[in-house]
Amino acid sequence: MAPVFAASVVRWQRAHGRSKLPWQNTRDPYRVWLSEVMLQQTQVSTVLGYFDRFLARFPTVGELAAAGEDEVFGLWSGLGYYSRARNMHRCAQEVMTRFGGTFPRQSEDLESLPGIGRSTAAAIAAFCFGERVAILDGNVKRVLTRVLGFDADLSVGASERALWNEATELLPPASERGAIESYTQGLMDLGATVCLSRKPNCLLCPVNELCVARRQGTPEAYPVKTRKVKRTSQSLWLLQANDETGRSWLEKRPARGVWAGLYCLPVFDSHAALLEALPVGLRATARDGASFVHVLTHKDLHLHPVRVEGDARAAMPGGGQWFAPPDWEGLGLPAPVRKLLGSGEH
Ligand code: ADE
Repeated sequence: MAPVFAASVVRWQRAHGRSKLPWQNTRDPYRVWLSEVMLQQTQVSTVLGYFDRFLARFPTVGELAAAGEDEVFGLWSGLGYYSRARNMHRCAQEVMTRFGGTFPRQSEDLESLPGIGRSTAAAIAAFCFGERVAILDGNVKRVLTRVLGFDADLSVGASERALWNEATELLPPASERGAIESYTQGLMDLGATVCLSRKPNCLLCPVNELCVARRQGTPEAYPVKTRKVKRTSQSLWLLQANDETGRSWLEKRPARGVWAGLYCLPVFDSHAALLEALPVGLRATARDGASFVHVLTHKDLHLHPVRVEGDARAAMPGGGQWFAPPDWEGLGLPAPVRKLLGSGEH
């Protein structure tokens, strides 16, 4: 099975896979790393614009390392999962300090850098340096568990390790030069365009004849993952103060917790705490906005905006400052805060 599987994926990728994305047809690890981190939780169509802007502003890893965190967050704004941006910045700095400004070539060394897990390290090493090593991101897990009929529960560490071993067994032979690059991209392309989570396009699949799940008639049953992350919920009150000229009062979030390091409306745990923090003269101007829920990976945030007519000469609570729209538009802001600021309902 293994040689036929790899050969079929390679052939299909070369004929039908994606080949003109801006991070392809290069062996520059900086570009490939940038794209892989951006693609970790975001679709290709969204990443395209961000990738070009990032490269235009930071053409080299050294320039990214030397940038301020706020600017990196600003350029990342809208991609979400900001820990990726923070890790990316730290990774660039470690490439400078630990590796003299050159990305290491081996997946094992790449994996020691912030924000680069086993699969991302393998993708960079395969695409840039031809290392024969397996990737296993969410899409590829779906492809491989279906083809293999791998029905062990992936919430169990031992099952996940077993699947990594299977993935390594399936790699194209070392003797075939240039195969690992097409194979790696081919698995990603199959997962993103053919072997879809809900409606897999088995008729278009180059390995449909090998696929155990298809033979069983239940490709959607894979991958098996029973343990769901425990979700929590939290209520936050957001002080939405605007001054006479339409500026908004924003403060930088602490380095830990929700929206770490981003700019944000001042956040409070209760309505009372928000009112208490206001200058006495402004309390009467407070008006409750429409509450809404914002869903994070592990948490539902119940957000309650409270609008206040601020005074440009007076400080608002916390360590913030007034930002006019052209200034906040370029900041790293949580998506719901950007939406509130942009709604113009002051
Ligand atoms: N998703 C993750 N890596 C990718 C890549 N190199 N091309 C397309 N989609 C991807």
